[in-house]
Amino acid sequence: MKWFFLALALVAPSHAGLRFGCSTLSIQRLDPLVEPGNVPSAHVHQIVGGNVFNATMDSTKMNIGDAGTCTTCFFSEDFSNYWTAVLYFKARNGTYKRVPLYTNADLEGEQGGMTIYYTQLDFNSNGNQKITAFKPGFRMTVGSPTTNTKAAAVAHTGIRYTCLQTIMTRGQETPDFPKAACPAGIMAIHHFPACWDGKNIDSANHQDHMFDTGKGGFQNAGPCPSSHPIRMPQLAYETMWDTRAFNDKSLWPTDGSQPFVWSANADPTGYASHADYIFGWKGDSLQKAMDSTCMFQACGNGKPLKSQSAAELNKCSIKNTVTEETQGWLPSLPGLAVGHM
Ligand SMILES: *[C@@H]1O[C@H](CO)[C@@H](O)[C@H](O)[C@H]1NC(C)=O
Ligand SMILES: *[C@@H]1O[C@H](CO)[C@@H](O)[C@H](O)[C@H]1NC(C)=O
Repeated sequence: MKWFFLALALVAPSHAGLRFGCSTLSIQRLDPLVEPGNVPSAHVHQIVGGNVFNATMDSTKMNIGDAGTCTTCFFSEDFSNYWTAVLYFKARNGTYKRVPLYTNADLEGEQGGMTIYYTQLDFNSNGNQKITAFKPGFRMTVGSPTTNTKAAAVAHTGIRYTCLQTIMTRGQETPDFPKAACPAGIMAIHHFPACWDGKNIDSANHQDHMFDTGKGGFQNAGPCPSSHPIRMPQLAYETMWDTRAFNDKSLWPTDGSQPFVWSANADPTGYASHADYIFGWKGDSLQKAMDSTCMFQACGNGKPLKSQSAAELNKCSIKNTVTEETQGWLPSLPGLAVGHM
């Protein structure tokens, strides 16, 4: 009898989905996932989330969800860290300026940051499957700073750009940087894989423990393969880069190319886009949300997740471990030699 109810619970249709803003926690050269202990790491990142973030985050020694004391995210039990490379504008004279971030639109008053999604099989349904939350210590990356072919970028269906005609433009995604000026900026999109091998909370390349059956955008994902049978939340980031100060064509390269590059390898194609995730939700809070029927910010205020105001989350900060200048006009990108192309 007990088993019967359990089975029913596992297949009950659920329409939960989280979408929330996190303010910028830090912009610096650290990467506790790919380059633990390196101060500084290879390239500049924007990091959002919990204040445990630092050069080393050894989850065999601590549970991040318990160790965190504040977070820049709307859900105050979420001490996870989320990060991507940052966007720079390359001027005709060869110097670089970091592109500012839009104030996050999800919660008035947030500063920069990203919008984070934890959806189910698709945007708002679990397809009658149990969605298993990530475990303490779980981490993964998507994409790679060394991707340098269009074919590889196209194959990463979760990594895309939208050229913002207005701040509300969605869809019309491309695997490379927009070639023309985008009147309202550039949105960088990262969807992570959502099928887990059920055993490993990490792997040597931070990717093999996961498998991607996403089809781009927020379409229904395909079924998980037997090698990676456990469906986890569909994690996605949206980062809104405010390029408006750089849209004047007289500032652009004379050869007609576009002037934006990633902090990683000064990549001008956009193919090197990548993102990192370290799980840090407190207790079973993420599982509770995935098992509920709440949508987006209505999951806050204790229904079932705790949440906080923009003023509270903006108070969360960390002291930068790497204190170099990252803003500009810089003769070279931090971590890259002068003249690097
Ligand atoms: C962060 O890591 C650096 C280098 O390991 C260390 O010097 C610093 O004290 C750490 N900061 C915090 C707040 O723990
Ligand atoms: C390089 O170009 C930028 C943008 O036009 C300008 O603001 C900056 O002062 C220039 N720097 C140098 C060293 O010429």
